[in-house]
Amino acid sequence: MELIGKAVDRVDGRVKVTGTARYTAEFSLPQLAHSVLLHSTIAKGRIRAIDTQAAEALPGVLAVIIHLNAPKLHEIPKDLKPTEGKTGQRLIPLQDATIRYHGQHIGVAIAETLEQANYAASLVQVDYEPEEPIVDMMTQLSQAHQPDDYLGQGADQSRGDVDSALAQAEIRIERSYSTPIEHSSPIELSATIATWDGDQLTLYDSTQGVSSTATIVSTVLGIPKENVRVISHYLGGAFGCKSFTWPHTILAAIAARHVNRPVKLELTRQQMFASIGYRPRTLQHMTLGATKDGQLTAIRHASTNQAATYEDYTETCGSQTPVLYACPNVSVTHRVIGVDLGKPTIMRAPGEAPGSFVLESAMDELAYELCLDPLELRLRNYAQKDPQQNLPWSSKSLRECYRQGAERFGWARRNPTVRSMRDGNMLVGQGMATTTYEVFRRPATATVQILADGTARGLSSTQELGTGTYTIMTQIVADAVGIAVNSVRFDLGDTKLPKSPNSDGSSTAASTGSAVYLAAKEARRQLIEKAIQDPASPLHHLDITQVMVQDGRCYAKDNPAQGETYADILKRHDMDCIEATCQAQSGSEQKQYSMYAFGAHFAEVQVNPDSGEVQVTRFVTSIAAGRILNAKTARSQIIGGVVFGIGMALLEHTVVDERSGHFVNPDLGEYYVPVNTDIPAIDAFFVEEDDPHVNPIGVKGVGEIGTIGSAAAVANAVYHATGKRIRNLPITLDKLL
Ligand code: MOS
Repeated sequence: MELIGKAVDRVDGRVKVTGTARYTAEFSLPQLAHSVLLHSTIAKGRIRAIDTQAAEALPGVLAVIIHLNAPKLHEIPKDLKPTEGKTGQRLIPLQDATIRYHGQHIGVAIAETLEQANYAASLVQVDYEPEEPIVDMMTQLSQAHQPDDYLGQGADQSRGDVDSALAQAEIRIERSYSTPIEHSSPIELSATIATWDGDQLTLYDSTQGVSSTATIVSTVLGIPKENVRVISHYLGGAFGCKSFTWPHTILAAIAARHVNRPVKLELTRQQMFASIGYRPRTLQHMTLGATKDGQLTAIRHASTNQAATYEDYTETCGSQTPVLYACPNVSVTHRVIGVDLGKPTIMRAPGEAPGSFVLESAMDELAYELCLDPLELRLRNYAQKDPQQNLPWSSKSLRECYRQGAERFGWARRNPTVRSMRDGNMLVGQGMATTTYEVFRRPATATVQILADGTARGLSSTQELGTGTYTIMTQIVADAVGIAVNSVRFDLGDTKLPKSPNSDGSSTAASTGSAVYLAAKEARRQLIEKAIQDPASPLHHLDITQVMVQDGRCYAKDNPAQGETYADILKRHDMDCIEATCQAQSGSEQKQYSMYAFGAHFAEVQVNPDSGEVQVTRFVTSIAAGRILNAKTARSQIIGGVVFGIGMALLEHTVVDERSGHFVNPDLGEYYVPVNTDIPAIDAFFVEEDDPHVNPIGVKGVGEIGTIGSAAAVANAVYHATGKRIRNLPITLDKLL
């Protein structure tokens, strides 16, 4: 594998910087009409009356669709497999007058221009019958219940006897932590362009799952899935909020049918906050038991998150708690509380991000309790095998991550005493944390063609989130076929292409990458076989293992002068191309090995003792994630993940107005994400790791692992600097004064 791992420039870099890469909202179709969502300004109650007459009378207005004139839509079956289709919520828009959350879509105004649609939307008069909403989960703790969503199924885990282990523990710490509502906030706004041709619907949609979106939309409209084509060529970030299909996509489809024209619907930045989910607020209790020399004897992790009144959603905060450390007694529980807010969704390492903040903060607290170095505590509890499933790891290089990360950071020079390190007047703190993420893999299909013009093409319906999917898939094709990267074209993001799963759960490289690899190898094999069997070929009668390929030329291993190009072979056989399609999915290795990527974070902060301001000054992250397909794009993903972690630690926080159930900071001026000045140079690097079991290309995925643990590393550094343990994110200056 020569090209694999190379820091190949993004193959879509040029079209992106020149502005010719078309994102969903940029498609223009003849006769395109524009639409604007109407949304509820109360959190609970019902619509008594709604007056659309003034809006409909405006010039250019084509229609206003509300619950009274909307088509009757179909329910999404509760047993629909998430691998087939993921809906943001099962609540279908515009089916009744009931209001369940602030920002709920109550209509859509459609006009010739966006300005006319906006004006029309502003003239719609809604008469509500409001009820008092309850949006604070802390007032509803007695309502906590076992979750009833697929994420919550099986989320509780246990082993051993936690109660007696805690009763007997030499050292015990018991702490409560909380994390706020946070929003994915990608730069690209969610958008859908819907167009009908008879009974055929095409959706340009900013989605992390074209096939999943086709399933959900066809189900709700009650039409065959084959009648829905979904296209998503580029996404300007997604982070979970574009993985599930949300009501606005359905509304675009029914709007286009209603006015019998293509319709564009793009959310505003404000609407991004109440339309496409968010990470819910969590309250987590953590109890650790240990011996005096730092052996964990018990872990109890009880997580409760807020969800909606109309549907549950589980933030799986404890999913990796049973896996990360060797400990005989573990109990993990998840409970949810419904409040009058919209339904949450997956966001940037859902569950693991807030869960690891708690586990890794608590480990730090235990280390201080024991007067033990936080890294040493983790080494003393190193899990040699998966302690929950009792399986060997397919590979684990966490020890190396700790060692190399600590060395690059200079961890050994850290003074363990809190408030002991200074830079001028500034308090200096250093903290660390472990990260891990499971290797997810789902069935995927890909086609690879080798063409008579000497190029190759890869095709699969996977999505490009901005992470480098076009680039790594191109590299896999080029490497396996044996031609140059710039002779390969990869097409993705279209349900017309061979089916791939959603791009989420850090699974795209493992899932679609494996299918692309197998298809490329198969296309190459078939073409070389043709040459070997052909008396006119210089490769005639060679054993296939004796044939090498470079830059599209096949030659004998022993005699490189003896050979011909793919193009020669195809032309002689009068073929335009040779094509192979392969499906790849996991097999028995799943039962034999536990598969996780691992890593370590080391953070340094400076805290102003007078103002409480925190600045992250250094950050080192070491990751072992199997084979790295592209050194540059993979490293960028880790850096991005760490930036999310720093944002989670210090900035991100959606505020709810308790009276109205309204998100009060719904824009990037008030919802703070880190900007350049908040972020130091991040030293992210990969520890070499060869995993022969995980999948045909040996990759583990790097999408989410950078986010996990990084908030805890910052919080631990803040404690080291100040002696203040902040257990409620984000760590704002008021909490440090
Ligand atoms: Mo990611 S939150 O799995 O899209």
